[in-house]
Parts: sequence; C-alpha cells; structure tokens
Amino acid sequence: MAKRLQGKVAIITGAAQGQGAHEAKAFVAEGAKVMITDVKAEVLDLAKSLGDDARAMIHDVSDEDQWQAVVAAAIDAFGKVDILVNNAGIFSPGPVTETSKATFVAHFNVNQLGTFLGIKSVVPAMKENGGGSIVNISSGAGQRGYPDMVAYQATKYAVTGMTKGLARELAPFGIRVNSIHPGLIETPMIAGPEGKADFMVEIAKTVPLGRIGSTDDVVEPVIYLASDMSGYVTGSEMTMDGGTGL
Ligand SMILES: NC(=O)c1ccc[n+]([C@@H]2O[C@H](COP(=O)([O-])OP(=O)(O)OC[C@H]3O[C@@H](n4cnc5c(N)ncnc54)[C@H](O)[C@@H]3O)[C@@H](O)[C@H]2O)c1
Repeated sequence: MAKRLQGKVAIITGAAQGQGAHEAKAFVAEGAKVMITDVKAEVLDLAKSLGDDARAMIHDVSDEDQWQAVVAAAIDAFGKVDILVNNAGIFSPGPVTETSKATFVAHFNVNQLGTFLGIKSVVPAMKENGGGSIVNISSGAGQRGYPDMVAYQATKYAVTGMTKGLARELAPFGIRVNSIHPGLIETPMIAGPEGKADFMVEIAKTVPLGRIGSTDDVVEPVIYLASDMSGYVTGSEMTMDGGTGL
C-alpha cells in the first residue's frame, strides 16, 4: 500500500511523549519527514531514534521567536512545510474557586496562544508551497461542558473556534484547518508516571465503547486530516471518544 504521507514535511509540537511522540513515529512510518518539538529534552532522543527523516528542537510553543526558528529549521532541513500538528498541551484540573490566575494564564499560553502562534508562523511557508494542512488537537472539552476544568476548557473551545474561522480565512490559499477531539486517552497527561490511575478504571465504565482511548485511536484520524485523503475536509471536528459525548 502507498504510504499516506509520502513526500510530506510535518511539524509536530509536544512530541516528547504521549500522543505527539506516537504521531511522530507514525508520520515517519507513513513516509513523512518530521520536525518534532517540545520543552522536554526527550524529544531530541526520539528524533535520533527516527533517523534521517526526523529533526528535533527544544521549543516553547508560547514563544513567537522560537516558532520562527522552528519553521526556518524545518525548511532548512526538508525544504518546505506541508503539515502542522498543534499537539502540545497542558491540563491541570480543579474547581473554579481553586483555579489561580497563574493556572489559567498557563493554559492560555500553551494551549491557545501556542496554537495561534504555530498557525501564524507556518502560514507564509504553506502559502508559498501552494497549500497545507493544519491539525489542531482540541478535546472533548472543546465541544461540551465538563466540571472542574475551567482553564483547560476555555482554551480548548478557543482552539475549536480558531479552527473554524481560520478554515474559512485560509481556504483560498489551499490551506485546510481541522480539529481533533479526543476523549480520555491514556498518556502521561492523564495516567501520570505510575501508569493507569484508579479513576481511569472508573471512567472507562462510563464510556459507551467500554474503555478509555489509546494513542492508536487518535493517530489514524490525525494522519487522515494531515494527508491528501482529506482534501475536501476543512473546518471539521473529528471526535474519537468511544461515544462519551453522545
Ligand atoms: N490524554 C487525554 O486524555 C487528552 C484528551 C483530549 C485532548 N488531549 C490533548 O492532546 C494533546 C496531547 O496530550 P497528551 O495526552 O499526549 O499529553 P502529554 O502530557 O503526554 O503530552 C503533552 C506534551 O506537550 C508538551 N508541552 C507542554 N507545554 C509545552 C510548551 N509550552 N511547549 C511545547 N511543548 C509543551 C509536554 O512536555 C508533553 O510532552 C494535548 O493538546 C492535550 O490537551 C489529551
């Protein structure tokens, strides 16, 4: 079977672990060249393990100058940018009265501002390239209400909203913008360093499909939206939550 991302160049943020790391490996297996970034140094080891098709940079997505450097380095290494996966994110839940301004601003900086700066930084290269695909990792919390996560929820709705508006704004340039809405996915963000927490077992019982999600459940929709298979899809919300949101 033909590789689905053959000849594509992708930037993936938050790729040191969890969904981003899984996407980096899958993209290379599908024929892409990747620039993977994270605030954590493990991203450098991951790139080394992926060989010539991968480069990595330490990168804080809330820093505009660092974004310029990432895009320039991707073009320097691979000649162009076709795909951006805005995956980096933080999640620190709590009731509204116990959510500090610092926590709220931290979520804004990474999840919302980081996504905006990523798009702003890659669009000139994508225009020059005649098009591109931007995949924004939102959440079920960017589609419906949940208690005790106001800071996260605000940013994920913002990502959903930016996706809609920019899908229209960038369509004339052949740039598609879509959002991904995972339910609970077993990654370090949720499971913590010790692995499956007790609460995940309880939550699994409430999911219509009877289990929490894995990074495999997210990577296929991301590949689809990143690739030419979804050439007529823009501004869409793709949900993989085992039916939780029904
Ligand atoms: N795990 C879930 O249940 C779930 C559900 C819905 C949506 N999501 C979203 O999926 C995306 C990936 O999350 P994950 O589950 O793999 O979590 P994760 O915590 O395993 O990975 C997130 C990565 O983002 C990186 N990061 C954090 N701040 C950064 C910054 N300022 N600049 C660059 N990188 C930064 C972290 O170092 C980490 O490697 C996030 O946007 C998250 O909000 C996760």
